[in-house]
Amino acid sequence: METGPDTATGLYDVKRLARRLGVKTSTIRSMKARGTIPPPTSNDINGGAVWSADTINQFLSVDKTKINAPLTKSSNRKLPRIIDLFSGCGGMSLGFSNAGFEVIAGFDNWEDAVITYNNNFGHSAYNLDLDDLEGAIKRLSPFFVDECPAIIGGPPCQDFSSAGKRKEGDRADLTEKFALIVAHFKPPFFVMENVDRAEKSNAFMQAKKIFSDAGYFVEQIVLNASYCGVPQRRKRLFTFGGFSAEKTKELLLALKNNQSSTETTIRDYFGETLGTQYYYRHPRSYARRAIFSIDEPSPTIRGVNRPIPEGYPGHRGDAGPIEEARPLTTHERAEIQTFPKNFVFEGSKTTVEQMIGNAVPVNMANYVAKAIIRSRLWISD
Ligand SMILES: C[S@@+](CC[C@H](N)C(=O)[O-])C[C@H]1O[C@@H](n2cnc3c(N)ncnc32)[C@H](O)[C@@H]1O
Repeated sequence: METGPDTATGLYDVKRLARRLGVKTSTIRSMKARGTIPPPTSNDINGGAVWSADTINQFLSVDKTKINAPLTKSSNRKLPRIIDLFSGCGGMSLGFSNAGFEVIAGFDNWEDAVITYNNNFGHSAYNLDLDDLEGAIKRLSPFFVDECPAIIGGPPCQDFSSAGKRKEGDRADLTEKFALIVAHFKPPFFVMENVDRAEKSNAFMQAKKIFSDAGYFVEQIVLNASYCGVPQRRKRLFTFGGFSAEKTKELLLALKNNQSSTETTIRDYFGETLGTQYYYRHPRSYARRAIFSIDEPSPTIRGVNRPIPEGYPGHRGDAGPIEEARPLTTHERAEIQTFPKNFVFEGSKTTVEQMIGNAVPVNMANYVAKAIIRSRLWISD
């Protein structure tokens, strides 16, 4: 498909620009309204907005100027810049940028997540199918022309099975695609986030081999978010690599040792602001409890949030009486994922719950990013 400007005029109209960025025309219109793409060169050519090829090339080049940066703290120019693959609504990106890294782009193929990301960052996320390895490498290449940004990302995780067991689903394969993209661009470091059960999967082992064959020293650690400044028990596997054995080991040690000695509870994080001592979290089955106290970390925030069903049978492990509990709101759940209050989500309630449940907690990503800065993972031997 043709993705350039009109050959006669050298201009991009909305349709051409949508093709170039891999998004819908409606996304271009909302990006234009929010100012997350440069202003049009003219607003009235054939009745619509157009952008010059120079404007768009400059915007897409790695050094593009921030149009606005509502949540991004000022970044530290001595650090490598960052590309976030499978960026979702941006939990991992926000944690890294809060630590001082400049994230230059996110990539995901979920339209609502891309829009949400673009609502909240000064750089853009783009709609890209990372399953199409050849297409993805082509699309990512312009970001690796003048410099080599580091790559972070959390490939989707539902389809892992233990090594040697049944065939894994298509989405497990995306972990290998992440590794192949890293092996192609050879960034100064990479960080991959997966669910903890990925550790024993065929796809994960294959990915590790791809990283090692590309010359990386690779380490991995399962972290529990509740020891990383997040009021939530959520175990995630972080795999990372750089070109120095020493720095990679140093980072592993820092990630082990810097964890807090106690877990963060909901009360630690919210104080009394929730106005309740207990809350309801719908269990996968009634064999599990559903009532939690604010004096413990929340259980893992998943992608669904249900009201209390009539006839909830209760569970002997419930932390308090059902009459004193309420379900948490979508935004409270986002805050448990340590998204800031002013983070703006886009989409239906179901969609937003899903992207919140998918995200890497911002503070957990920040914990990892700060340890990377201290260990200077990007320095090679
Ligand atoms: C675990 S979530 C990532 C969460 C993200 N790191 C964050 O912190 O918010 C996985 C993401 O992979 C995306 N995804 C799934 N298949 C994809 C594909 N073929 N190409 C690009 N993104 C894909 C999903 O839309 C989802 O946002």
